[in-house]
Amino acid sequence: MCFVTLRFGVSLPNLCDATPQAFRRRTEYVAIIQALGERMDSFELNKIAGAILFTLLIYLGVQNLGDVLFATKPADPTAYVVEGVVEEGAPVIAAVAEPVVPITELLQTASIDKGVKVAKKCVSCHSFDIGGANKIGPALWGIVDRDIAASDGFNYSSALSGKDGVWDYEALNGFLENPKKYATGTNMAFAGLRKAKDRANIIAYLDSLKD
Ligand code: HEC
Repeated sequence: MCFVTLRFGVSLPNLCDATPQAFRRRTEYVAIIQALGERMDSFELNKIAGAILFTLLIYLGVQNLGDVLFATKPADPTAYVVEGVVEEGAPVIAAVAEPVVPITELLQTASIDKGVKVAKKCVSCHSFDIGGANKIGPALWGIVDRDIAASDGFNYSSALSGKDGVWDYEALNGFLENPKKYATGTNMAFAGLRKAKDRANIIAYLDSLKD
C-alpha cells in the first residue's frame, strides 16, 4: 500500500495506483478537487466584485463628502462690492459714489443736542462758553461768521493767521472734516469729523453760540 499524506493529516491512496478501484477513487478525488476549485473561483469572483463595489461606494461617498465639505453657494448679488476689485467674470457693477450733500442742506435737519455730544471731542482744547478763555485752542463762542484767527490773545499758526475770510458754514465744514488738509500746517491736532452728519450737528451747535 502506498499512501500519500496530505496536510492536516489526511491520508489518500496513491493516485498513481493502477487498480480499477483506485482509479475510481482517483476520479472522485479529482471531482472533489474540481468542485473545491470552482468554489474557490466563485470565492475569488465574489471578492473581486466586492472590491469593485467597495471602491465604487468609497468613490461616491468621497464625492458626496466633498460636496458637503466644500459646498459652494452662488454669489449673493446684494453682497458688498469692494471698489476697484473686479472679479473675473463677475458682472461689473458701477461703484456709486456717495453723493455730497451741501452742508446748508444738512443743516436744515441738524440737531443742536447732537452737536453738543459731538462737541465732547473738542472740549479738551476749546471753550464753548460765553466769554470763555482760550485754552489749547481758541475760544469758540460766536465762531460762526467770525474772522478766521481772530480770538484775542491766541497765538495762531501761520496756517490760520495767513487765511483770509470768515468761518461761514462752508469753511467750518471743510476745516472740521480734515483740519490738516484744509489748513496745511495748522496746530489743531484733531483728525477731523468724517461723518457729514456730525459736522452739520456741531456747526448747528456752534451757530447757536451767539448773543
Ligand atoms: C487737540 C486740541 C484740539 C481739539 C481736540 C480741537 N481743536 Fe480746534 N483748534 C485747536 C488749535 C490749537 C487751534 C488753532 C490752530 C492753529 O492756530 O493753526 C484750533 C482752531 C480751531 C478753529 C479756528 C478758530 C479760529 O479762531 O479761527 C475752530 C473753528 C476749531 N478749532 C473748532 C474745533 C472743533 C469744532 C473741534 C471738535 C470737533 C476742535 N476744534 C477740536 C485745537 C483743538
